[in-house]
Amino acid sequence: MLEQLESTYTQALAELETITHSDALHEWERRYLGKKGAVTLALRATGQLPKDERAAFGKRANEIKNALAGAFTGREEMIRQHELARSLEEGEIDVTLPGRRVPTGGLHPATQTLRRIYAIWAEMGFQVYRSRDVEDDDTNFTLLNIPPHHPARDMWDTFHTTTPGVILRTHTSPGQIRAMHDYGENGTAPIRVILPGMCYRYEQLSARSEIQFNQVEGLAVGRHIHMTDLKGTIAEFARRMFGAEKRVRFRGSYFPFTEPSIEVDVECMICGGDGCPVCKYTGWVEISGAGMVHPVVLQNGGYDPTEWSGFAFGMGPERMAMNVNGIKDIRYFWQNDLRFLEQF
Ligand code: FA5
Repeated sequence: MLEQLESTYTQALAELETITHSDALHEWERRYLGKKGAVTLALRATGQLPKDERAAFGKRANEIKNALAGAFTGREEMIRQHELARSLEEGEIDVTLPGRRVPTGGLHPATQTLRRIYAIWAEMGFQVYRSRDVEDDDTNFTLLNIPPHHPARDMWDTFHTTTPGVILRTHTSPGQIRAMHDYGENGTAPIRVILPGMCYRYEQLSARSEIQFNQVEGLAVGRHIHMTDLKGTIAEFARRMFGAEKRVRFRGSYFPFTEPSIEVDVECMICGGDGCPVCKYTGWVEISGAGMVHPVVLQNGGYDPTEWSGFAFGMGPERMAMNVNGIKDIRYFWQNDLRFLEQF
């Protein structure tokens, strides 16, 4: 058997020397190294040999297989070069044609808006704190002064996981509790952070509402923080984000975790305040909920509310991007349609 294998080896090498086309080369590979090729079959037959011959035969058969595979690769490269030179000579390839343009990616409009928001808040002294997307029910609701069965829970339709009490956060506000515990040094240190991230709500999709969207929460805790600080800070943010000429208004509102609570609107930049479908003909686009941190929430974050106070806000970057760029439907953001994305 070994003799036969050696002669197959010699024959295979001799044949390989004469091959000049890739078709013939692959036929050669099939015949010697393929599944049913001569060398493969010889290797497989090792088991039929007397025991004392098997090791030596197997070793040699493997050497031959590797040597043939190496020779094949060398020949293949030679033929490839040869065929390329021939086709260049025959003019099948026009080497003067310009190369195909590789499309470059860009930042998603939501990311662009988020980065702009981070930059503005950073200039105003707010540090980014990343909280978690998967929250527990307590932190998302109860510690924010929304006990179980409180009607305010209806404000946020929740995605529950299969683990009881574990949910996808419906807003970035639970990050307030986490930031107070992580940065507050047991209720003794002031805080100034923003908490950006995805939120999830089991909501009816519409031109203005998605089931997943970003929010940027803000939290400031200190000894003498007042409503005027909140209004001034938000107004300054809006000035930097939308321009000094854009009007901002504050409306009274309700959130269980702030008292008093407000909502912030900016003049619709699509119609300039005249009224259009994006602003629902009001001339105003809501950009944020906000308010003074409720004493119960300060307490749950480890602060003494008789000594400490704070403000918080939660803004929607996609709604802001819609306003700035005249995007008429929020659903474009996550559809990954390049015709939309390439405009930014
Ligand atoms: C909240 O989520 C409060 N946590 C905000 C807050 C924080 C109030 C701190 C007080 C203090 P609201 O549900 O209104 O509030 O959402 C805040 C912003 O998120 C909205 O102004 C809007 O811009 C954005 N938003 C809310 N729901 C959606 C949605 N389904 N799709 C896109 N953006 C949304």
